[in-house]
Amino acid sequence: MNPKQKIFKILNQADGVVSGETLSAELGVSRVSIWKHIQGLVKSGISIVSSPKGYRLVSDPDSLVPWAFDTWQDRIHFFQETGSTMDEATVMARKGCADFTVVVAQRQTRGRGRMQRTWQSADGGLYFTVVVRPDIPMMLAGLVNLAAAVDMARLLRSLYQVDACLKWPNDILVDNHKLCGLLSQMEAEGDQVAHMNIGIGLNVNNVPETETPIAISLKALLGRPVPRREILVAFMNVFEKRMLAFDPHVVIDEWKSNNVTLGRRVRVITVKDMVEGTAVDVDSHGGLILQLADGTRQTVMHGDCFHR
Ligand code: BTN
Repeated sequence: MNPKQKIFKILNQADGVVSGETLSAELGVSRVSIWKHIQGLVKSGISIVSSPKGYRLVSDPDSLVPWAFDTWQDRIHFFQETGSTMDEATVMARKGCADFTVVVAQRQTRGRGRMQRTWQSADGGLYFTVVVRPDIPMMLAGLVNLAAAVDMARLLRSLYQVDACLKWPNDILVDNHKLCGLLSQMEAEGDQVAHMNIGIGLNVNNVPETETPIAISLKALLGRPVPRREILVAFMNVFEKRMLAFDPHVVIDEWKSNNVTLGRRVRVITVKDMVEGTAVDVDSHGGLILQLADGTRQTVMHGDCFHR
């Protein structure tokens, strides 16, 4: 544990003010050095009140700084501001970071969505990327995205009783309003996945910009702010379990039972093309099977899907 972690732990466990003297004795460093560490903690987003009597941590269930997490703190990398958590995660993944490393940001200046869109990432939203290293062939990588969306939708339903449903491939909608989007990037070794970075943008306490479908936040749905840390912890707990026992059939079954795309007339816009039809099924790799007007079937693997 570094000095800042130790100070955070002591303040977190204390019920009130801890004097500079106590901290200095516990850490074996001068009070000036304690003061400098406290400034560092405050700069990294932790709320600490200083008074002549000492220091008091202001409890903040929304805080995303690693020390505020019990079990996940060694794998969480927090940025007050970054371009995109996807880019930070890519650098870490290429350097060999651990499975289930999480990069989370308070805000992103170049947050991106699928199909080269911008992802508005103002304060209050939950923006994070998880690095996973599943032992699966590249062909099945799309199912990891579906799995992440299933897990997030389920936990939103169980924690907040919102009617979170999946729109192919992995948007999470409530009453046709977009609550959450997922983006993934993969690097391969031969035909196996080397790592996948799953980026998740969840509208929690932010006011999302209008897009199609119209976006909505958890705060707007529930009429109260929601602490982001409990969502991130709950997601990581279920997603880790899921990935350690990854079963493609289970993912597809669960996706199907939470989706609002199958059975509907849809338009799917791909990088090069546009296809319209009725969404009839997903295949074993997560591709969407469309029944076209001429009766033939076509499978699309990637694209933006619009319900008609
Ligand atoms: C979409 O619906 O288009 C996907 C949005 C994904 C946004 C998240 S926010 C965290 C991560 N970092 C990014 O730049 N994008 C993803």
